Amino acid sequence: MKYALISDIHANLPALEAVLSDIRRRSDVGAVYHLGDLVGYAPWPNEVVGVLRAAGIPGVAGNYDSTVGTDYKHCGCRYEDPRQEELSHVSYAWTRQHVSAETRTCLAGLPFRIDLLPNGGHLAGPRVVLVHGTPTLNTLYWTEDRPEEFCLRMANRAGAKAGDMLAFGHTHLPWHREVGGIHFVNTGSVGRPKDGDWRAGYVLAEVRQGTTGVEFVRVKYDVEAAMHAIRQSDLPDEFADYLRTGGKATTTTGNRS
Ligand SMILES: [Fe+2]
Repeated sequence: MKYALISDIHANLPALEAVLSDIRRRSDVGAVYHLGDLVGYAPWPNEVVGVLRAAGIPGVAGNYDSTVGTDYKHCGCRYEDPRQEELSHVSYAWTRQHVSAETRTCLAGLPFRIDLLPNGGHLAGPRVVLVHGTPTLNTLYWTEDRPEEFCLRMANRAGAKAGDMLAFGHTHLPWHREVGGIHFVNTGSVGRPKDGDWRAGYVLAEVRQGTTGVEFVRVKYDVEAAMHAIRQSDLPDEFADYLRTGGKATTTTGNRS
């Protein structure tokens, strides 16, 4: 059985719908999980949460979800210059203003991590641990260039051992590394990729005793519709350009989330 792991949807409804229909076409996907950051940057926060709830797709809290859900002072995002900071604040304020009480409650109730045991909890493993950023904080960025010591420290915090998988998102950059027999998988982003490819990204993961499969999938979606909706909203137009170019539009809109 394969798991479909979808992360960082960021209120991009056309991207989510395209990914879900791609997953539904696959007969070998047994379950779908989201890895958080359901809202922010695009104008469909309530619709995205509604689609996931209607489809019964469980998942973990991203930094955006837990900060909106708890009414925190900012989204926990990192930015590299004053313009990024300004855009980040606009997105966060817009999102807090537009989420329904029901959506906020739903975001606040998301768990921090989910453990999957494909062989069943009556056996020791293998284990798949789902978090948004890292097993310690959902705001911490786990990039591919982190040293092996960092990966092993995080695996230790998660209770992961050789043969297990730790899956997460948050950086919007997909990658897969194996350290100490543990598979570390960043799923990339459904609704706001940052690797220069505008298509929605997700992962198909298969974990069995002794074998692990990771497939990165990219799906075309109606990016023009998403861009149009952003421009029609009070969100900054820069967010539309960001979607079209997969995060490579300019140097001033690439704040992390
Ligand atoms: Fe994100």
